[in-house]
Amino acid sequence: MTITHPSFGTLDDDRVIIFDTTLRDGEQSPGFSMNLQEKIRMAEALTELGVDVMEAGFPIASPGDFEAVQVIAQTIGQRDDSPVICGLARSGREDITRAGEAVRAAKRKRIHSFLATSALHMKYKLRMEPEEVLQAVHDAVTLARDFTDDVEWSAEDGTRSDPDFLCRCVETAIKAGATTINIPDTVGYAVPEDMARIFTMLRERVPGAEKVIFSTHNHNDLGLAVANSLAAIKAGVRQIECTINGIGERAGNASLEEAVMAIRTRNDAVPFKNRVDTTKILRASKMLSTITGFDVQPNKAIVGRNAFAHEAGIHQDGVLKNASTYEIMTPESIGWAKNSLVLGKHSGRAAFRDRLDQLGYKVGQNQLNDAFRRFKDLADRKKVVFDEDIVALVDDEVMRDHERIRFVSLDLHAGSKHPAKAVLELEIDGNSRSATASGNGPVDATFNAIQEIFPHTANLVLFSVGAVTEGTDAQAKTTVRLEENGKMVDGQGADADTIVASARAYIHALNKLLVKRERTEPAALSA
Ligand code: KIV
Ligand code: ZN
Repeated sequence: MTITHPSFGTLDDDRVIIFDTTLRDGEQSPGFSMNLQEKIRMAEALTELGVDVMEAGFPIASPGDFEAVQVIAQTIGQRDDSPVICGLARSGREDITRAGEAVRAAKRKRIHSFLATSALHMKYKLRMEPEEVLQAVHDAVTLARDFTDDVEWSAEDGTRSDPDFLCRCVETAIKAGATTINIPDTVGYAVPEDMARIFTMLRERVPGAEKVIFSTHNHNDLGLAVANSLAAIKAGVRQIECTINGIGERAGNASLEEAVMAIRTRNDAVPFKNRVDTTKILRASKMLSTITGFDVQPNKAIVGRNAFAHEAGIHQDGVLKNASTYEIMTPESIGWAKNSLVLGKHSGRAAFRDRLDQLGYKVGQNQLNDAFRRFKDLADRKKVVFDEDIVALVDDEVMRDHERIRFVSLDLHAGSKHPAKAVLELEIDGNSRSATASGNGPVDATFNAIQEIFPHTANLVLFSVGAVTEGTDAQAKTTVRLEENGKMVDGQGADADTIVASARAYIHALNKLLVKRERTEPAALSA
């Protein structure tokens, strides 16, 4: 089954294309929205990871989405190591034109057009007759081909579609010039047997099926997204759509790290190859958590804090004698460091920069100066500085230098005798602003001071504090969730001082709200 594809040339029979949709399906789920700089950072990490296709956004959704896809196409998309840059579009002319314009600059570009094909969606959502849907598929793919030879067409709710009608839609898309056919399990309803049945049927029955790459896109509502993706590969699919940390609509999408590590670890059972450099997985996972403010659960496969921790004595004993007694893959193979103790207060700028390089951060001179200043400050207060500390610190400070509201300083008077008082200085759009506020404890006083400097109507719906590493001198890592007009954002902060970390998290969340306010989110765009 050797296929020649416009973006990939001739593909080996056992090659699986990794299509990442963290910046589209992942980003469109509640609380996960990213601003332009954050999307660019994530896009860099995905490129280093080695994904083949990066769905960078849904250009028609908002000017911000368009800009993000366009900037990624104009920057990363120019490089030789760039993934194919993809923009999502519904079937209309305006959608496809916007997607085509957004990806235009990329050396390798894709338009991904979709339309629902299940009776349920056609009747209640689209209010379209099957024949109209077929015409729309034809028109959309034909128009998309005017912008690029690499066109993907998706049958939304494909796994719940009538098999005969699905075959007709796929045939129409192939005839109109689609080079990848994706059958999404939009509502996460399928089981692995469905995958085998649907893809075997399509490959056997649809004329021209042998010329295209079949793709699978699975949602995790029943916790089966990765299992379904693997079953689809076995049934002839050669592209899987996935996201870092499995983020995405509702219960999320198939997790990239789980699918890739399953293929690598059980290559005897799933004998396929891909281009992902698995040692870059953890970095991408942590970056996403920091940007979005959502940590993965400790027991999350591959990237959870406990994924390689052996608590039970009998397990520890076995692992010490021979790691493979209880470890099916090595922590290093996905990027966990063997020894994360790195720097102390005598470490110089060169050693610090070197460590940042190893951790995958490419920072400019100003960013390095800011980060080094904070590192020195932390090293003065903390006996040992771990990789995790550096990651928390750099993510907190350096990568937020574009934000409109910035933390400058905080002076606190607290204790059991008097109401707490916070003297806070922030910078808003480059201008210094200060306020003094009291409150029921230091956190309350600090948040009141923020409210005074930057009045807003958002409600605080969650505030949580954790530690970056162990010990009483550990940095605090805080999360603040704000809600405004039904929109939810999470902010994160890190600092050796818990209250400063809390202020930073609150400010991060406010910055995200500002970005949200600038975005329009038409309800009909959900996919
Ligand atoms: O889940 C879905 O159906 C999608 C499509 C737009 C591919 O995300
Ligand atoms: Zn989806």
